[in-house]
Amino acid sequence: MCGIVGYIGPKEKKEIILDGLQELEYRGYDSAGMAVIEDHKLQNFKAVGKLVNLREKTKEYNSDGFGISIGHTRWATHGKPTELNAHPHLGKYSYVVHNGIIENYQELKQELSDEGFVFLSQTDTETIVHLFEKYHNSGLNSFDAFQKTIQRLEGAFAILLITEAQSDTIFFAKNGSPMLIGFDSNDVYFASSDTPIIGKAHEVCYLNDGEYGYARPGDVKLFDSNGSKEINKKPLVTNKAMAQKEGYRFFMEKEIYEQSTVVSDTMIGRASANGIKFEELSSLSLEGITSIKICACGTSYHAALASSYLFERLAKMRCSVEIASEFRYKEPLLDPDTLFITISQSGETADTLEALKMAKKAGLKSLTICNMDNSSIVRESDAAILTRAGIEKGVASTKAFATQMMVLWMLSLKFAKERGTISDEKFSEEITAMLQVPKSLIISDKLHGKITRLSKRYLHGHGFFYIGRDIFYPLALEGALKLKEISYLHAEGYPAGEMKHGPIALADAELFTIALMPQTSHYDKIKSNVEELSARDATILSISPLPFELADDFIQTDHATHPMLEFFEMMVVTQLLALEISIRLGNDVDMPRNLAKSVTVE
Ligand code: AGP
Repeated sequence: MCGIVGYIGPKEKKEIILDGLQELEYRGYDSAGMAVIEDHKLQNFKAVGKLVNLREKTKEYNSDGFGISIGHTRWATHGKPTELNAHPHLGKYSYVVHNGIIENYQELKQELSDEGFVFLSQTDTETIVHLFEKYHNSGLNSFDAFQKTIQRLEGAFAILLITEAQSDTIFFAKNGSPMLIGFDSNDVYFASSDTPIIGKAHEVCYLNDGEYGYARPGDVKLFDSNGSKEINKKPLVTNKAMAQKEGYRFFMEKEIYEQSTVVSDTMIGRASANGIKFEELSSLSLEGITSIKICACGTSYHAALASSYLFERLAKMRCSVEIASEFRYKEPLLDPDTLFITISQSGETADTLEALKMAKKAGLKSLTICNMDNSSIVRESDAAILTRAGIEKGVASTKAFATQMMVLWMLSLKFAKERGTISDEKFSEEITAMLQVPKSLIISDKLHGKITRLSKRYLHGHGFFYIGRDIFYPLALEGALKLKEISYLHAEGYPAGEMKHGPIALADAELFTIALMPQTSHYDKIKSNVEELSARDATILSISPLPFELADDFIQTDHATHPMLEFFEMMVVTQLLALEISIRLGNDVDMPRNLAKSVTVE
């Protein structure tokens, strides 16, 4: 998720912008930049990597008169992390910073290029500033040109735009990505979240989707589709640490709640009723590819395992899945007609990176599904699909897993369509379900409250079995891992059908079984597996749309029409269960003992 800061006023602007961007570092980024207009002069600085590089570039620069300024930290979604792709993006006399994804940017870019506008970057953002200048050059005043520009944009955006044509004004717009306005007497601030303006502004207005306007010294005008509107100001919080978590107790909790939004971002420009497209695959020919091998670790391995059911069932492509640390030393047999896919949130996991190098050495084509552009695994792969989850601060992965699953499902559908292994009707069913996933990830207070109350019963016992069938077996593995990682209680994920082949010997009242019982996938089979356990006095927590009378505890999910909708919903339940148990045990949810966010060693 990118970070945005803006300021209008007489104070020194460079430090306000740099300090503000520093406060947004927790959102993750790979490049940064700023632009200032003072005495009608436009100054612009950009740097790849950490903010210290931008500080170095601006150390001789000072802006101490009245002026306007905007700054940005970029999390790459379109285009590599380079200076050219860093924001602000320049037209001839205007600059723009943007957080979000412009879904129709290719169409706009073509229109503008045909009219002679020259693009320097690979980003979707650059279309905004050229579109503004196209309308301004046509004779519209700056505000009308800005208004007309944002009316053409589709997708998610939070925008600040400044122009020499009106050098005392910042134009702003918010739709789908966060943006707020801070006030301190005549000074006006903009930011993606509270932290950059805490201690500077004293009142704040949180913009709503569809709102836009302009800010001049002591004069801010707000509009939406119904015209001008009142600005609702409220006192600004003063606790920065709390602000970064945006009111949640832990980053992991915030990231569980972010899943609905970030999965939507993952789908933008890729999944629609018309089909699936991945720009990133345009350079990767899949000619002659007949099978898939996926290699990963931990949670990413669970995503890989779940997706193998989808690739075989939907695309009819043989799909094998390997734990990277095993793969590296098993002297694997590799065929050039196999597409080698790695999955990694960090893009730096040593075992996964080495496995990738082995596959490349054997002549396989490689694709990675990763959350960090420019990471080692991304650079090593022939092609990379970014999951767009934004930075994941919690060591226990949640939103990265959700976005990996969404990418993998889209990919299996894309392959199925290309290989003609899916009917139009089935494809449409899949897409219809897919487009409902963000909604299925929205967490009700009722559900979270139930899990919070229920978690008090699961703080001891001699262990947990998470059981599931089909794609719910990898989800059971993932649910068990979440619990282990942050509660330090022992938990195992197991195929439900396997319990009778040994593990059922453990069944007694102290054995907690978390049973994933989807309505749309082998319900009767999983039900009988759980009945076997209940008959031996195991304590059962059933997660299902259907009440299960033998359950000691029951968490009801919504009646779902598709296994993947049930998958995502049950994923949230297992994440929240682990979170609430860990909180009751007093553990550091975000930084569990013995763990690191990125395992860069063997
Ligand atoms: C997941 O909650 C864990 N933090 C861990 O298993 C992680 O998934 C694993 O280390 C792989 O990391 P990666 O996705 O960055 O490659």
